[in-house]
Amino acid sequence: MQGVTVVDHPLVQHKLTLMRRKDTSTKSFRELLREIGGLICYEVTRDLPLGDIEVETPLATIRSPVLSGKKLVLAAILRSGMGMLDGMLEMVPAARVAHVGLYRDPETLECVEYYFKVPAGIADREVIVVDPMLATGNTAIAAVDRLKEVGARSIRLACLLAAPEGVAKFRGYHPDVAIWTASIDSHLNDHGYIVPGLGDAGDRLYGTK
Ligand code: URA
Repeated sequence: MQGVTVVDHPLVQHKLTLMRRKDTSTKSFRELLREIGGLICYEVTRDLPLGDIEVETPLATIRSPVLSGKKLVLAAILRSGMGMLDGMLEMVPAARVAHVGLYRDPETLECVEYYFKVPAGIADREVIVVDPMLATGNTAIAAVDRLKEVGARSIRLACLLAAPEGVAKFRGYHPDVAIWTASIDSHLNDHGYIVPGLGDAGDRLYGTK
């Protein structure tokens, strides 16, 4: 699928399988999502530009690469985005964080915004939207709409699981935003859940069911 990278690294796939199991505890689910967040972050940031700086090692002076592009913003969609965020921040500790509070109306499956806070200067930053479940696509579309409204110009989307329907809809609205996911599952059910999926990521993360 164009614009979509499936992160097929064995560690990611192994951890995802553990997360899918319905009897995986809240504690394990939370740890795994955090770990996968870090691993997916590696892939999402694979093409970040580097520039050389001079470094003195104990033995010699060399030119050596450091990140040289735009600063990063991790835009976590509440609440399950928080579960991936810490793992990603371990990889890029200097990143700024945006919080986007959106929930799905259970009847219409449309999303409703209840919180939106982004760091200054977002137009000059590389924004990674963090949303573990790309299901209908409505939440991710609304989040990217809002981020673009406040000036974000360079955006990518990191998720854990995607449904083909959500990927197609999201790419239709935001063809400029590439997606990274650990899996594209079979389909969405009538309630907008990803099948086979892993259930409600927020409930499993916080033990609210
Ligand atoms: N959100 C979830 O947490 N799970 C799904 O399967 C779909 C949306």
